[in-house]
Amino acid sequence: MKELKCFALLLAGGSGERMRAGIPKQFLKVTGKTLLECSLEPFLVDPEIDGIVLVSHVDHLAHTRDLLKTIKQPKSVKVVPGGLTRQNSARIGLTEIPEAADIVLIHDVARPFVSSNLIRACIEKLKTVDAVVTAIPMGDTLLRAEDSAGGDKVVTAVLDRSCFWRAQTPQGFRLSLIRNAHRLAEENQMVGFTDDCGIVLHFALAPVYILPGDINNLKITFPNDIVLGEASLKWSSQTRQVDR
Ligand code: CTP
Ligand code: MG
Repeated sequence: MKELKCFALLLAGGSGERMRAGIPKQFLKVTGKTLLECSLEPFLVDPEIDGIVLVSHVDHLAHTRDLLKTIKQPKSVKVVPGGLTRQNSARIGLTEIPEAADIVLIHDVARPFVSSNLIRACIEKLKTVDAVVTAIPMGDTLLRAEDSAGGDKVVTAVLDRSCFWRAQTPQGFRLSLIRNAHRLAEENQMVGFTDDCGIVLHFALAPVYILPGDINNLKITFPNDIVLGEASLKWSSQTRQVDR
């Protein structure tokens, strides 16, 4: 029996400056499809997801809508114009999620390798908690550094990396909780949050539970990330074949 009404909020309102591609990265291709299509598909086909709100860059609404026309859409996808920052785009998108929704999964279209398993894991956990973030353990050693008198950076501490995680999306929340978080951020004129669980934590609104992320679910930020992402996927599928 289906217990929670679940919506997905996909963020594609950025302009991909660091990608230096001339067009926003959501329209670039990985594994033969645009990032936008790759990110949307697992949410579109998942029967647990009741509907999708897609935040588009305001200058690329037509392009986004045209692209959507080429994709089979088994459920409603509402396209809305985003804001100047990710935080703004998420806040605007949240206002478009129907009141009837219990939970919302927020996902960056910049992570085109999101898997159905990850989506399912978020929904399952949200049956018992109010906020989840997918994340992977820190692989590198973490250093704290300060500026030296000569202008160089000097290490002041090596941190215990077992306490640190690299946040991914999807992140999932009770709808009322994440709307409240964004409302508080706006009322307090707090800008610059780079993800949504950070806002919940800032206002200590709820514990945020970590769910094991996926090493393939990497974020496309710089040009070489496309090559890395495709290679990672290929490696995983070959490894799975060998394992069989
Ligand atoms: N995003 C958004 N609205 C914004 C800025 C970002 O919806 N005003 C979305 C992006 O489309 C992306 C996600 O937030 O899916 C994470 O942002 P980021 O990786 O920084 O993407 P861009 O902002 O597009 O890239 P850049 O910072 O290099 O310009
Ligand atoms: Mg950005």
